Amino acid sequence: MPNSIYETMGQQFGRRSWAEPWKIKMVEPIHMISAEERKQAAEKAGYNTFLLRSEDVYIDLLTDSGTSAMSDRQWAGIMLGDEAYAGSRNFYHLEEAIQTYYGYKYIIPTHQGRGAEHLISKALIKPGDFIPGNMYFTTTRLHQELAGGTFVDVIIDDAHDTSSMNPFKGNVDLDKLETLIKKVGADQIPYISLAGTVNMAGGQPVSMANVKALRKLCDKYGIAIYLDATRMYENVFFIQEREEGYANKSLAEILKEFCSYTDGAWMSAKKDHLVNIGGWLAVNEPKVAENARNMVVIYEGLHTYGGMAGRDMQALAIGIAEGIKDDHIRSRIMQVRYLGELLLNWNIPIVEPIGGHAIFIDAKKFYPHIPQEQFPAQTLAAQLYLDSGVRSMERGIVSAGRDPESGEHRHPSLELTRLTIPRRVYTQAHMDVVAESVKAVYDVREKTKGLRMVYEPEYLRFFQARFELL
Ligand code: F0G
Repeated sequence: MPNSIYETMGQQFGRRSWAEPWKIKMVEPIHMISAEERKQAAEKAGYNTFLLRSEDVYIDLLTDSGTSAMSDRQWAGIMLGDEAYAGSRNFYHLEEAIQTYYGYKYIIPTHQGRGAEHLISKALIKPGDFIPGNMYFTTTRLHQELAGGTFVDVIIDDAHDTSSMNPFKGNVDLDKLETLIKKVGADQIPYISLAGTVNMAGGQPVSMANVKALRKLCDKYGIAIYLDATRMYENVFFIQEREEGYANKSLAEILKEFCSYTDGAWMSAKKDHLVNIGGWLAVNEPKVAENARNMVVIYEGLHTYGGMAGRDMQALAIGIAEGIKDDHIRSRIMQVRYLGELLLNWNIPIVEPIGGHAIFIDAKKFYPHIPQEQFPAQTLAAQLYLDSGVRSMERGIVSAGRDPESGEHRHPSLELTRLTIPRRVYTQAHMDVVAESVKAVYDVREKTKGLRMVYEPEYLRFFQARFELL
């Protein structure tokens, strides 16, 4: 079974190798500092990869957010910025692109994804509400909590099992959802928070069948569905690859259909849309749009720029169309899969099926002797940096934070270290170097000790927490 998904892929694209649908026009030099310098840099950063200086990093796989390479067309768009305070022509290009590709009616620009999360959470949630979703995301859940809501995880159980080969591990468990609706009442649930693909589960997709069934269930109870569309382009690739009836449809067609089952979306454009900054909220309900437009001027900027420069909106409008091209997404996902397969060949435990934007190493299996309170995924991220200057990110107990009621650590079943691949930035040779470094760290795993947290910030602690070696 493990290989069946990858084999299907092979049949679809034939026996020939894939290659990127672009060539390189400009380069940015990078270099690996010495082992002694990496040791000092890691110590200075409190063994938290978010606190490293980027110049001390060799291959930067911290995130795929805002780190992608823009095309020559997007850079040309930067020169067409209309920096008017109000009514910039670039806003209308952006609005048209979102309406064309996603099909939503009203568009509110924001400076990045969490700006849009803030607006939608404030617009829809009242204190005491419950917001069910297919696994939490750090900033999304925090905005829901700050608006007075409680997030409830209703993702299928397979999502919490790193070795389950379910092809749609991002799906909502409709029974869990209906149980919650019956328990708290539909009027206590302002919307379902649906993410495609699911970042914290390993970049796992939601199927079209699942969103259709979800729509039906939500219609029965009069509940809205809002989509975290941040990596929806990758989600629709997996539908095309794995779901019956979609192999011959374009990604753009599949995207439009998926969004038609939802009432709106928020977006961190720093991912799928191939720009370094930007975001938006899109809704179909005029009342919700009015509410969000009233707030955008308080928190982001005027409703025709929302925190972005005109030139940024132009590059973003172009990126919306470029990002959904079939050949682009295919090469992007194949690069991630290439890295994952190298690790699988050495029996290194990773989340499978290999997801959309990153390889997630299962740190509980990698370091079975390190208890979760000693931060195995954070330890692995630190060890990788020490070995090769490769920067990764913790997605485990540190990211999960503390329960607001009890103040105790949340203990997520997934304790992962994420190697996140920026789009159009690194080559296959870089992936080889990364894989070899993971292997080197794996070979000495039994001698590796965990970490102790010595500084813990109140909100989103993973960004700024500090650690010491045990
Ligand atoms: N939703 C998802 C699924 C995300 O992955 C992110 C950001 C956001 C919302 C928030 O967007 O950063 O533009 O404010 N994810 C980044 C990451 C930071 O590294 O996964 P933002």
